[in-house]
Amino acid sequence: MALKAGGDSAKVNSAVYKDKSKPTDIRLSNINAAKAVSDAIRTSLGPRGMDKMIQAANGEVTITNDGATILKQMSVIHPAAKMLVELSRAQDIEAGDGTTSVVVIAGALLDAAEKLLQKGIHPTVISDGFQKALQLSLQVVEGMSTPVDLSNEDALLKAAATSLNSKVVSQHSTILAPIAVQAICAVMEPNANGVGARVDLRDVKVIERIGGTVEDTELIQGLVIPHRAANVNGPHRIEKAKVGLIQFCISPPKTDMDHNVIVSDYAAMDRVLKEERQYILNIVKQIKKAGCNVLLVQKSILRDALSDLAVHFLDKIKTMVIKDIEREDIEFVCKTLGCRPIASLDHFTAENLVNVDLVEEINEPGGKYIKMTGCAQGGRTVCVSVRGSSGAVVAEAARSLHDALCAVRCVARRPALLPGGGAPEAAAAAALARAAIAAPGAHHYCLRAYADALEVVPSTLAENAGECCVLYDADVPAAFVLHILNCLVLNYLRSVAQTSIKV
Ligand SMILES: Nc1ncnc2c1ncn2[C@@H]1O[C@H](COP(=O)(O)OP(=O)(O)OP(=O)(O)O)[C@@H](O)[C@H]1O
Ligand SMILES: [Mg+2]
Repeated sequence: MALKAGGDSAKVNSAVYKDKSKPTDIRLSNINAAKAVSDAIRTSLGPRGMDKMIQAANGEVTITNDGATILKQMSVIHPAAKMLVELSRAQDIEAGDGTTSVVVIAGALLDAAEKLLQKGIHPTVISDGFQKALQLSLQVVEGMSTPVDLSNEDALLKAAATSLNSKVVSQHSTILAPIAVQAICAVMEPNANGVGARVDLRDVKVIERIGGTVEDTELIQGLVIPHRAANVNGPHRIEKAKVGLIQFCISPPKTDMDHNVIVSDYAAMDRVLKEERQYILNIVKQIKKAGCNVLLVQKSILRDALSDLAVHFLDKIKTMVIKDIEREDIEFVCKTLGCRPIASLDHFTAENLVNVDLVEEINEPGGKYIKMTGCAQGGRTVCVSVRGSSGAVVAEAARSLHDALCAVRCVARRPALLPGGGAPEAAAAAALARAAIAAPGAHHYCLRAYADALEVVPSTLAENAGECCVLYDADVPAAFVLHILNCLVLNYLRSVAQTSIKV
């Protein structure tokens, strides 16, 4: 019986194995799904690429040019298409910019693979050929890169400006690019081996504030807290401040979940209020004793971190109090001010406070915010306050600034620059087309297909700018091919330059 069952399953297996159309169909369906995602995003590539307006299920509208953001908002179901979304996300984490380019290139490579499969070339051979082409392309790109000196701000500015060129806020790149460069230069630490620098982007805090225009975006060497002080009649500007950051609450303690306190008469009520007053007063006295005049209070999820009575007392001792510091911001606040969070009243002593030259509450049409500057004991951190007239503009400006920061970080990590406008892809394609002539058998087709696929970047950039695309044949001499590609890129750059002058 068992033998029979085994024989049956072997028969079924061999039937499945013989049915060659199924794996081919699956491959094609995967390729088509991934290509659909790539095609959807292709029109956003480059400085003349179109921005996308995306409406979320809750009705919120996002206007963006950022590949990773567009793909994140798309509800993709097909697993192969999801992989492209993941690819873009991975690029966003690793490099921060180029999230559209990776998807466009991946789509073009899949298209090339599909054509090779149709020619009857085995998938393993295609994969090997593509790996070889990748190595060759990397050599070309390495060869054409120009080393830069990190003290040369102009080079870093170019990288930041190119990254911003393709964004909705590109007209403000003259303001945002220097901010991105200054922010990265302020937080970077040179590597021990002397080559490049280490940059932790968590040391740059980007704060989004609605109100004003993108031109009002500024870099602050200190700390910005995007809300007002909790005081009612307290100070709004303190020079030579002594700042303390607390993680406990200045409000009456709460009972456990399932406990109730029933107050049945006025005398008991009076006692409760007296106790509360005494409890709060005790904390405030300790704050005064330590000499603290600016108090930062971490947000509490259990109860109000600051009661009205506490605010009243703090007003009286002329201490500025800023509540609702988010838990995830504590690390940044500590690094910026050079302090340690104080978890209990016993530790609230003068030595746990830090000196800050100036703490002020700034009142602007967009709302009030706290600015702390001159943190002598602080670490290498900066804040960038991104401004814009509406939520959508501020969000896109912040996303664009993030890309620019990432572009400068990449240069800091590996100080070398490549030309833009799809020139590296065009050069790699030309080199691959040359290498394909000498390549034997199926590898010839794979290298050619890879070269064609890489051309998708310069041709899409030109296409999105309304230029015509030049197609060429590998039989044409390589020098001529390079010449045509150079012309294409130059024409394109010229057209971009002209239009930006017109704007
Ligand atoms: N002024 C310019 N002239 C020509 N090409 C440019 C110019 N500025 C940028 N580019 C090119 O535009 C491409 C980048 O476009 P874009 O910023 O839209 O996409 P991305 O960087 O791949 O993705 P994202 O910015 O959405 O993460 C690069 O190939 C870059 O070389
Ligand atoms: Mg970009």
